Amino acid sequence: MGRRRQVLHGAALSLLLLAAVADAQQTDPGDAAALNAVFAKLGQKALSSWNISGDPCTGAATDNTNIDNNPPFNPAIKCECTGGNASVCRVTRLKIYALDAVGPIPEELRNLTALTNLDLSQNYLTGPLPSFIGELTRMQYMSFGINALSGPLPKELRNLTDLVSLSVSSNNFSGSLPSELGDLAKLEQLYIDSAGFSGPLPSSLSKLTKMKTLWASDNDFTGQIPDYIGTWNLTDLRFQGNSFQGPLPATLSNLIQLTSLVLRNCRISDTLLSVNFSKFTSLNLLFLGNNSLSGSLPSSVGSMLKNLDFSYNQLTGSVPSWARNSQLNLVANNFGADISSNSALPTGLDCLQRNTPCFLGSPKSSSFAVDCGSDRPISGSDNSLYEPDAVTLGAASYYVTGEPTWGASNVGRFMDASNGSSIIYSSHQFLNTLDTELFRNARMSPSSLRYYGIGLENGNYTVTLQFAEFAFPDAQSWKSRGRRVFDIYVQGERKEQNFDIRKVAGGKSYTAVRKQYTVPVTKNFLEIHLFWAGKGTCCIPDQGYYGPAISALSATPKLYSIVGRPNVLSYGELRSATDNFSPNNLLGQGGYGSVYKGKLTDGRFVAVKQLSEASHQGKKEFATEIETISRVQHRNLVKLYGCCLEGNKPLLVYECLENGSLDHALFGKGKSSLDWPTRFEICLGVARGLSYLHEESSIRVVHRDIKASNILLDANLNPKISDFGLAKLYDDQKTHVSTKVAGTFGYLAPEYAMRGHMTEKIDVFAFGVVVLETLAGRPNYSTEDENKVYIFEWVWELYENNHPLDMVDQRLEEFDSEEALRAIKVSLLCTQGSPHQRPSMSRVVAMLTGDVEAPDVVTKPSYITEWQITGGNTTYMSTDVSGQPSSAPRPNSPSSRTSSPFLSSVMDEGR
Ligand SMILES: *[C@@H]1O[C@H](CO)[C@@H](O)[C@H](O)[C@H]1NC(C)=O
Ligand SMILES: *[C@@H]1O[C@H](CO)[C@@H](O)[C@H](O)[C@H]1NC(C)=O
Ligand SMILES: *[C@@H]1O[C@H](CO)[C@@H](O)[C@H](O)[C@H]1NC(C)=O
Ligand SMILES: *[C@@H]1O[C@H](CO)[C@@H](O)[C@H](O)[C@H]1NC(C)=O
Ligand SMILES: *[C@@H]1O[C@H](CO)[C@@H](O)[C@H](O)[C@H]1NC(C)=O
Ligand SMILES: *[C@@H]1O[C@H](CO)[C@@H](O)[C@H](O)[C@H]1NC(C)=O
Ligand SMILES: *[C@@H]1O[C@H](CO)[C@@H](O)[C@H](O)[C@H]1NC(C)=O
Ligand SMILES: *[C@@H]1O[C@H](CO)[C@@H](O)[C@H](O)[C@H]1NC(C)=O
Repeated sequence: MGRRRQVLHGAALSLLLLAAVADAQQTDPGDAAALNAVFAKLGQKALSSWNISGDPCTGAATDNTNIDNNPPFNPAIKCECTGGNASVCRVTRLKIYALDAVGPIPEELRNLTALTNLDLSQNYLTGPLPSFIGELTRMQYMSFGINALSGPLPKELRNLTDLVSLSVSSNNFSGSLPSELGDLAKLEQLYIDSAGFSGPLPSSLSKLTKMKTLWASDNDFTGQIPDYIGTWNLTDLRFQGNSFQGPLPATLSNLIQLTSLVLRNCRISDTLLSVNFSKFTSLNLLFLGNNSLSGSLPSSVGSMLKNLDFSYNQLTGSVPSWARNSQLNLVANNFGADISSNSALPTGLDCLQRNTPCFLGSPKSSSFAVDCGSDRPISGSDNSLYEPDAVTLGAASYYVTGEPTWGASNVGRFMDASNGSSIIYSSHQFLNTLDTELFRNARMSPSSLRYYGIGLENGNYTVTLQFAEFAFPDAQSWKSRGRRVFDIYVQGERKEQNFDIRKVAGGKSYTAVRKQYTVPVTKNFLEIHLFWAGKGTCCIPDQGYYGPAISALSATPKLYSIVGRPNVLSYGELRSATDNFSPNNLLGQGGYGSVYKGKLTDGRFVAVKQLSEASHQGKKEFATEIETISRVQHRNLVKLYGCCLEGNKPLLVYECLENGSLDHALFGKGKSSLDWPTRFEICLGVARGLSYLHEESSIRVVHRDIKASNILLDANLNPKISDFGLAKLYDDQKTHVSTKVAGTFGYLAPEYAMRGHMTEKIDVFAFGVVVLETLAGRPNYSTEDENKVYIFEWVWELYENNHPLDMVDQRLEEFDSEEALRAIKVSLLCTQGSPHQRPSMSRVVAMLTGDVEAPDVVTKPSYITEWQITGGNTTYMSTDVSGQPSSAPRPNSPSSRTSSPFLSSVMDEGR
């Protein structure tokens, strides 16, 4: 414990009397030398108001100044002088309190043998508690609380037979308590909480019959809580967060003078029958939570008992009448649902029992995110909207957000805290995060804090918890000795034990720590439970500063790793791969979203497509779809590595292809990099890819948006079709008639554009257009030469005039005329007006390779005739077939198709 209220009986009074005595008094030279040496080593200097004459035992040291709770007198001493005028003064009190004195306990302290009261608490003393401390045999009150002392407690303490109070709380000692402590017959107060001790309590402690106050929380004491404590004179007993076992001591009922009894989380198995709680007439605080208590609540308790915690046990039965006048915590027991009808208890308690059936429902949401303790929503860098969570939660209360998508509950009461706020705030800049705002507020709980996801879709979820420590500075200060330690459970499974935010952050405060777990959601319900098992310090830097704290959390359907891919890609990974989606890495932008170039940590380059919005499907279905698509693999299809569905905008991760898109390669100015064999192989490759998609793949995929900008070229200029299957994600049409048309002008088959009639033949049509563009080295629509604005018109004219090969790109120095003619015929076949007249893609492949002859005579499609009539303004191209406002984009012009390797506009962008 920090600021111990140390009782000082006779000493202060006698000093007061001595204060008036005259000048000739002098500090014992040995004491003066020792004191000066101690001060020098600990970097302290007496304040001028005290060390007036240069002799330590003058001024405040001998007058009636009260040095307790008197900040101006710190450090301070008190002296006792004897022998009249020529008397000698000995130092009896020494206080160096909360001054961050750093270093080992100075050797010279041993010469101050007249000390009765030593307070070196709340500094940064290191090393052992030296055995010479046993030589200071006049000691009555001694505190080394909140320092960094280590090693075992010295046996020599046994010689301090006048010791009334000993505090070594919040240090880093080790080993068990020495049995010699039992010799301290006058000991009334022992503060050893968070001190690092372990093992059973020695039986010799039975001799400490004057013991009134024992604070021993947060060690690793084992064995049964000894029966002999019933012979002590206890008023205040704190044992939580140890590893005891067995029943409550049978003698407990003897301790009728108890005012406070904390046996929380002590692994006690008991039925409460052996203890007569009505005998505790002074008891005010009873903490028995987190044990294995069964049976029912005591039928009567002492009349002063107003704060009772029985949470996290297996209690059953009814709630007695005394509950009406008390703060009673019954969370997480086996009381039935009817407990909510008891008007003496907080509402909603039924939802906080074990196996609660509350919140079960049909799935309404697939994710949620909370900025714990915040009073306003914050948009995170992960694209999640973190909802506010500023409701004040009482000792056993919960709340649920409106939808409901999530809720929170809290249990417990901050011990010894004056205000005990459960929401903490810091304006500090936080490290290791892009979202400092998320960390400004945090929610803290004295015992147990739970967040619930309600009505979630079932499936695997990624739960991300974010923490940052606030109040323990990184300096050598007693404040840095604070330890916040708690356990984390998700879906009832313990994920972290003795979790210490600051430790995980490398011993640093104001540094974000992220924990991520994959958990199953089965009953549309997710529980994140932060639980204080009584571990860690309780009161650094202030009383009531302990227990779990959390800054933000989110739950998103699990990031779906794609079958056979070892790399699971997280949002964070993709964000850093793309340099936080830097515009410099933007490869293109289109109807589905933006595409960024990225480099994974393994050095692999990828293309990350950030879809502009979620599909209408649930995330799970979406992911299943992606997984299905990723299984469709062919050398002429762009490989889909995976996706990431954290956040609102799904990310698709593709292999990155070195040579960009076909439209770039074809339609650029100057000499084309694509020679004839390459162009022909591209046509063939695309045909093979489509043939696979349509006829060979395990699932039939109609691409719906075949165009030059969706054909990517690898390092060897092999073509690969990108974006296949995407249209399906956004339009799960069950029939052949699609309600919305996706696709790009100039490549749209007439039956699809006009009636939304969708078969794989629309891809065949678009493929025909791509082949024409590839042969001609020009886009299907180009105003460059007014005689050949539309590729169809122009090619048909040449074809009908028996000069079909004139359409081949003039920039090509040579080409295979046989192949070219085959390709022209194939493309004219593919772009026939009636889908039935167009060949299948496998037939297209056969015709291109020459395995099957391409028929000579084909009819000029009627839509071209219509075009000619309207001067290029065909009906279908200007009709708003998608039902969208008719601000339909014009056919692609060279200028508008400059940089979209993956995507270009689709008709119904308004989706
Ligand atoms: C402490 O006392 C010992 C023996 O009485 C003496 O040798 C030593 O010098 C003293 N130390 C100081 C700092 O006065
Ligand atoms: C008291 O004052 C004298 C003279 O200034 C100094 O030498 C001595 O170190 C002081 N004592 C303490 C404990 O600061
Ligand atoms: C103490 O000293 C004072 C003056 O300094 C003197 O009057 C008094 O008699 C002395 N008392 C004793 C007991 O020596
Ligand atoms: C403690 O006291 C015993 C005698 O009661 C003595 O033998 C021993 O040396 C003392 N130890 C210390 C550290 O003073
Ligand atoms: C506590 O002591 C142990 C050794 O017993 C050491 O490993 C650990 O670092 C110490 N912790 C602190 C906070 O000083
Ligand atoms: C127990 O403590 C009370 C005061 O709290 C005191 O009056 C009584 O004498 C003590 N009993 C023993 C045996 O020390
Ligand atoms: C959740 O993950 C586990 C283990 O990774 C897996 O066995 C299980 O099939 C997954 N459940 C669902 C619904 O995807
Ligand atoms: C095509 O139609 C648009 C509007 O629909 C009109 O502005 C344009 O003049 C037409 N072009 C021709 C060549 O008729």
